[in-house]
Amino acid sequence: MGILLCPVCKSELKQQGRSFVCEKGHCFDIAKEGYVNLLTGSKSGDLTGDNKDMARSRKAFLDKGYFGSLSDALCDIIKNIHAENILDICCGEGYYAEEIANKLNCSVYGFDLSKEMIRLAAKRKSKAEFFVANMSGIPIADNSIDCAIHLFAPFCEREFLRVIKPGGYLISVCPGAKHLWEMKAAVYEKPYENEEDSPVLPGFSLDKAVNAGNHITLADKRDIEALFKMTPYYYHTSAQDKEKLLSLDTLTTRVDFYIRIYRKD
Ligand SMILES: C[S@@+](CC[C@H](N)C(=O)[O-])C[C@H]1O[C@@H](n2cnc3c(N)ncnc32)[C@H](O)[C@@H]1O
Ligand SMILES: [Zn+2]
Repeated sequence: MGILLCPVCKSELKQQGRSFVCEKGHCFDIAKEGYVNLLTGSKSGDLTGDNKDMARSRKAFLDKGYFGSLSDALCDIIKNIHAENILDICCGEGYYAEEIANKLNCSVYGFDLSKEMIRLAAKRKSKAEFFVANMSGIPIADNSIDCAIHLFAPFCEREFLRVIKPGGYLISVCPGAKHLWEMKAAVYEKPYENEEDSPVLPGFSLDKAVNAGNHITLADKRDIEALFKMTPYYYHTSAQDKEKLLSLDTLTTRVDFYIRIYRKD
């Protein structure tokens, strides 16, 4: 049995030509970029994920390889656990899914609520497949995933537990203690370290927690702004403090990723 489910009736979804169809006849067309929209129900209000501007700015920044230390670390971890299929939940514009699909011999499925993110992801033309869906009801069969990755995104414990195979892995990444330390020091008088915690997830055991990262040099004002926009600080900083950063022509800052590897019991 395949791993994709019909989001309406939860029976298996199979590709037929340019569509995905279930046995009850629910049909989802493959968009011209190559992704499939499996979002059902309300499409209004805040149920849209990240917008066009956020998606484009994130793609332009990540494609320059600034977070390559994280994608390398993820590929090393996944290689060592011999996962055959990977689910990238809240995959954004597909940078990490593409890197994994290109470097490793495994099937990669990327899901995100934002149609714009998924459109950009599918346009990468990588071996990964991309779908629009809400992570609170991932249209993926129970116990079917070897390894789910979850990077800088909201969390849905119940769904991760349902879709990952017993003995399978959940790799969750959030900013490490010193992430963007020099960037924060350029804006704030007294920057604080991020807390690194590993919450207990019922049904999972923490295998290990590791840090990955390096120093990156942003030699373009647009990259400095793009990176700042990718952080929550952008939305909580005064115009005066923002200006301290945006007046810089170049910035060398540490990137520090806290990677937790959980294993389903
Ligand atoms: C900060 S971005 C991270 C994207 C990607 N993981 C990365 O590290 O580049 C968070 C992503 O979560 C997506 N998202 C937010 N709520 C979601 C939901 N309920 N279901 C699926 N995706 C969601 C957003 O659209 C956005 O692409
Ligand atoms: Zn159906």
